[in-house]
Amino acid sequence: ETADKKKRIYEINAEAGRYFYRCLAGEGGKVAYAYLKERGISNATIKKFGLGFAPEGWTGLLQYLTQKGYKEHDIYEAGLAKARDNGTYYDAFYDGRVMFPIINVQGNIIGFGGRIITENSNTGKYLNTPETLVFKKKENLFGLNFAKNDNSGKLLLMEGYMDVISLHQAGIGNAVASLGTAFTPEQARLIKRYANKVVLCYDADQAGRKAAVRAGAILTDEDMKTRVLTITDGKDPDEFIKARGPEMFQILVESAKPLLTFRIDEIKKKYDLEDTEQILEFSEEAATLLADVKNPVEQELYIKRVAQESGLAPDTLAARVKVLQRKQV
Ligand code: GTP
Ligand code: MN
Ligand code: MN
Ligand code: MN
Ligand code: MN
Repeated sequence: ETADKKKRIYEINAEAGRYFYRCLAGEGGKVAYAYLKERGISNATIKKFGLGFAPEGWTGLLQYLTQKGYKEHDIYEAGLAKARDNGTYYDAFYDGRVMFPIINVQGNIIGFGGRIITENSNTGKYLNTPETLVFKKKENLFGLNFAKNDNSGKLLLMEGYMDVISLHQAGIGNAVASLGTAFTPEQARLIKRYANKVVLCYDADQAGRKAAVRAGAILTDEDMKTRVLTITDGKDPDEFIKARGPEMFQILVESAKPLLTFRIDEIKKKYDLEDTEQILEFSEEAATLLADVKNPVEQELYIKRVAQESGLAPDTLAARVKVLQRKQV
């Protein structure tokens, strides 16, 4: 029963993907196609990722799919139609969006992300398929269907669909993104099946740095080696790679900081280490972080570093860390 339903949703999604793809190539897709070209997306990339366009209108996809014999209620259950109170349905993507099929590691389209291409929209820049029987945002990653074939043992985790697409186009095939939600333990466990190292490549803004800290904590809980990359040019990996190219991006990847170094540096930024009172606050906050470090060798190494930066004897800081550690258990 459930297996049949899932199979039907995959089928409907595949048909919808074909519809969106054709719409992008057609007369009505010109603006969307120009938008992708303007963003530097090649035809080969459009094809590889199956990018498409959902034109403005309430029933374009519904008509296409019902003509193929699919029931409106099933299209609704695939998340591609919305239901009105009077029992009629309309397209879930109705306001003109570039469509990104989200494909699981088995190769099935589980849902779509859609990006608005006109500025004057009040419906949100991105819209995703709602949760369905097959679309679980928390349990999937965009781009993993391709990145799983990368054999470097390392995945690059970023924020956006466009980041992933840009990197793959530039020949960096191990980029993935979470699906417009905060990174989850389920996604960490999914990554773990394909790689033991993660480089966080979140946006350069404060939100991105905060998100990196949160994702890092989740990855650490799953015993993944995590580094954090800082975008130095442009807002995100997509903008960086367009400005500086793939070789420079690889240099950023190589120079990504271990998660703990990144976290301590983030804490350090908040304090003036010329000021004794602030040194105290910095070492207290850093000690709290270090009290959480499970590996004693790693803990000792970082205690030494922080002590040096604070001008403390390592033993003094180590003692404080031990006290905080005891409080935690
Ligand atoms: P571009 O502007 O197209 O380059 O997108 P971006 O990926 O750089 O956008 P941003 O950094 O703002 O967002 C990162 C990711 O968060 C997107 O790829 C989406 O998955 C998600 N996201 C952003 N805005 C929205 C929104 O309005 N609604 C939802 N549901 N998700 C969003
Ligand atoms: Mn039903
Ligand atoms: Mn962002
Ligand atoms: Mn972007
Ligand atoms: Mn971004």
